[in-house]
Amino acid sequence: MRDFLVIGHRGACGYEPENTLRSFKKALELGCAWIELDVHMADNQLIVIHDEDLSRTTNGIGRVSETAFSYLQSLDAGLGERIPTLSEVLDLIEHRCNINIELKGQGTAIAVSALLQKRLSKHNQFLISSFDHTELLQMDTRYQRGAIFSQRTDSLVTNTLSLSADTLVVKHNLISSSIVDEAHNASLRVLVYTINDSKDIKDMLDLGVDGIFTDFPDRATLLKDNA
Ligand code: G3P
Ligand code: CA
Repeated sequence: MRDFLVIGHRGACGYEPENTLRSFKKALELGCAWIELDVHMADNQLIVIHDEDLSRTTNGIGRVSETAFSYLQSLDAGLGERIPTLSEVLDLIEHRCNINIELKGQGTAIAVSALLQKRLSKHNQFLISSFDHTELLQMDTRYQRGAIFSQRTDSLVTNTLSLSADTLVVKHNLISSSIVDEAHNASLRVLVYTINDSKDIKDMLDLGVDGIFTDFPDRATLLKDNA
């Protein structure tokens, strides 16, 4: 059977508060071989949170990048969970699954490169991805690199190659069999986000993409195993 990556999006955020340790634990329980998380810089720390603004996912207010670490630590990110740092997530995961770190803000590439270098984790694969291609280019080249696109461009494949990325990450509405073929001919891996519905998961398997980001990893694993 070909490899089809089921990547737990923000952990297993269909079941638990996104980007919390509880969500990453749930993804591990569901047997995810990969999890995805989002990082911002705040107060010189790598913080695991999706939005730049605190209001959607926590009981706080303000911009993450302008907020003191002590305030961030005091917030509830859902069901009493704290906003984790990237180090805390790496400590939780240890060698148990591979990790996609999405760079969300300025300064994250240099900080993530330094943190991974310090931890010298040999037992996980890391895929580092971003919509911010300028930030992505600053990432240590020893890690797998994913260029994310939410908009159609003249050539997704050419743009991905120009960033020295090995992975093309695309929004579900941009994917087609011709893009999959073009990417595979250029030796790129193709990952699609965010795919939750069973029919859509089957469509992605049929299209021959290399994996999906999903809030419900168990659904995708079941369909993949029966494909
Ligand atoms: O990388 C796939 C996906 O995580 C990108 O979208 O908004 O969920 O970070 P978003
Ligand atoms: Ca993300």
